[in-house]
Amino acid sequence: MKKIILQPSGKQIDCPSGQTVLSVLEKQGYALPNNCRAGACGECKIKVLNGEFDQGFIMDMALSLEDREQGYGLMCMAKPISDVLEIEFGTKDAKPKLFPPVENSWHIVIDKINRTNKILELKLAPLGKPIRFWPGQYALLGDELLKHPLRPYSIANAPKEDGELSFIITKEPKGKTSSWIHEDVNIGDNIKINAPYGTFLGDPSVDTPILCLASGSGLAPILSLLNAYLSRGNKNHVTLLFSAKTKNDLLDFGKLKYLESKYINFKYKYTLTQEDNKIGALEGRINKVLPLLLPDLSNHSVYIAGGVDFVKSCLDTVQGLGVKEDLIHMEEYFAQQII
Ligand code: FES
Repeated sequence: MKKIILQPSGKQIDCPSGQTVLSVLEKQGYALPNNCRAGACGECKIKVLNGEFDQGFIMDMALSLEDREQGYGLMCMAKPISDVLEIEFGTKDAKPKLFPPVENSWHIVIDKINRTNKILELKLAPLGKPIRFWPGQYALLGDELLKHPLRPYSIANAPKEDGELSFIITKEPKGKTSSWIHEDVNIGDNIKINAPYGTFLGDPSVDTPILCLASGSGLAPILSLLNAYLSRGNKNHVTLLFSAKTKNDLLDFGKLKYLESKYINFKYKYTLTQEDNKIGALEGRINKVLPLLLPDLSNHSVYIAGGVDFVKSCLDTVQGLGVKEDLIHMEEYFAQQII
């Protein structure tokens, strides 16, 4: 058995021979950004401080010669050869490090899709280097020169190799930036964004079932977290309860039904608060339906995202169902963020 030592924390992990550093880190609950898991995207690049490893077959573009000379390796393909491999990983307590935000990163609008009469999905592709982010984080969109203030919008997808970003944007009646995006930004336009920001992150070291509660565009960070979590092959049960007014407000209904069919550990539930035809839906607001769905949350991690009132009401409900304080994660959208 070989050992991987994480620095600067000094934490040690056993590494059975033949396993990649990435898979061993993940099994022990350490989050390392990754995407292709095949040595092609460079997302899992880490500096190796001491020891030998077999890098396996990787693409030149994913790890430059300069990076190799400086001791970097791609952990999705790297297998330790020496008894001890010492790598640079995270903070002093081995928590993942946040990526430094990039400002004025040019992106092109590759799609703009109306999801409901108030909500659209905006898809951007990077014109330069893709922005690295953790699932659940957000970007600032706007154009201050044109008097559209920078506003935070959660990224709605898990990190992708090509750097594509998707956003779910609600049109606020007096929102300068959201109106600009809805009315003036077109497919093919170049826009600048700043990202990533925020700490609404998953914690892979916590081994519990997961409950996600969302309404409106609060679904965006939840989608990002969900896709990343499920595609990593995690086996804990995940329940998403989405609150909408009517069937027409069920964002990404098809995608979520697809995830439910694909992953047996994922359940998608929704409640409709202003719909006569409630077939398939739960009845009532979260505070009414959640205690019937999951009466005991004492062993759950909970992620809540939506408007301030929604988050507050969900918080009261989950606290009443016994969730532990340190396992509650919240992303609130404040009025001043969207106007
Ligand atoms: S995850 Fe893409 S290179 Fe490692």
